[in-house]
Amino acid sequence: MKRHFRVWRGDASGGDLRDFDVEVNEGEVVLDIIHRLQATQAPDLACRWNCKAGKCGSCSMEINGMPRLGCMTRMSTFTEDETITITPIRTFPVIRDLVTDVSFNYEKARETPAFAPPPGVAPGDYRMQQVDVERSQEFRKCIECFLCQNTCHVIRDHDENKPAFSGPRFFIRAAELDMHPLDDREDRKEHAQASQGLGYCNITKCCTEVCPEHIKITDNAIIPMKERVVDRRYDPLVWLGRKIFRRDELESASTKPSFPPIVNPSTANPSTVNPPMSSARLPQTAPVGPDGHMDIAELVAPQQGGLSPFGEDLEFPLPPEQIAYHHPDPDKTPDR
Ligand code: SF4
Ligand code: SF4
Ligand code: FES
Repeated sequence: MKRHFRVWRGDASGGDLRDFDVEVNEGEVVLDIIHRLQATQAPDLACRWNCKAGKCGSCSMEINGMPRLGCMTRMSTFTEDETITITPIRTFPVIRDLVTDVSFNYEKARETPAFAPPPGVAPGDYRMQQVDVERSQEFRKCIECFLCQNTCHVIRDHDENKPAFSGPRFFIRAAELDMHPLDDREDRKEHAQASQGLGYCNITKCCTEVCPEHIKITDNAIIPMKERVVDRRYDPLVWLGRKIFRRDELESASTKPSFPPIVNPSTANPSTVNPPMSSARLPQTAPVGPDGHMDIAELVAPQQGGLSPFGEDLEFPLPPEQIAYHHPDPDKTPDR
């Protein structure tokens, strides 16, 4: 039967929706219809695709306003009289028709520090428990369709947030490496908070809803990462350590991020790559620094962490009966 489609046609200078009536056969997906449209009525319609099996991540588009893979959206999910509107993914600049420039994501990928195995352990000698393999396996299913990036409201309607925000696809990468038992870097959390813009995420879970690989982006990556960042900030033992160390030592440490400077070849400007952190985040300052990234607030805030759970006028060491805080027993805490 023939079905009615509205397809966005245009380029970076503008465009509009064009109407088409296209033949649809049983068992077809939206990408089949686009191919038939190219074969019969619009040979110059631009569309990116590759595998037609939901594995290459190329055919991302918005179908009736929902970010979807064209090759995994069955025509049988629409009613027979429904008009199907196909538009390019909205967060990234249009090149032509349904093809967008997703290079933002590759820049963010370059900014994510790579897996860092312990020195002296050669590939082939890596050993890890099966439970650790399974934990990160979920994140390795990502096909880089960037539907989650396209959906995230932090950048969908706010181009100005793009320099400071890596997006959910790269939060799962950071979480995967943070929980990797062979990754030797200790600063994944700090990097996610300070340079990837983890704090911008308000866990709306929209990214999880559109992921074609059903990766629980928010529940299994973002929320645990945020919890670990908060642990560092509010853990009373960490607070105690900060009291014991002198402030100037802390500030001197905070001006030396332990991760190496990240140079983006396309926008590299040596004077703005990882400049020293400011000494305090004052309420009136901009939410991001001149490098477009947020400060590491837990190291440099004027009030270190939250209020002390021990009160303000206590002598240390505390008598044991005054220590009301207990760490959870790891043996009784279920794995996340
Ligand atoms: S949960 Fe966070 S990363 Fe995901 S869409 Fe919402 S704000 Fe963006
Ligand atoms: S996390 Fe899911 S939605 Fe995001 S890029 Fe990977 S596969 Fe696509
Ligand atoms: S064509 Fe590969 S995911 Fe759709």
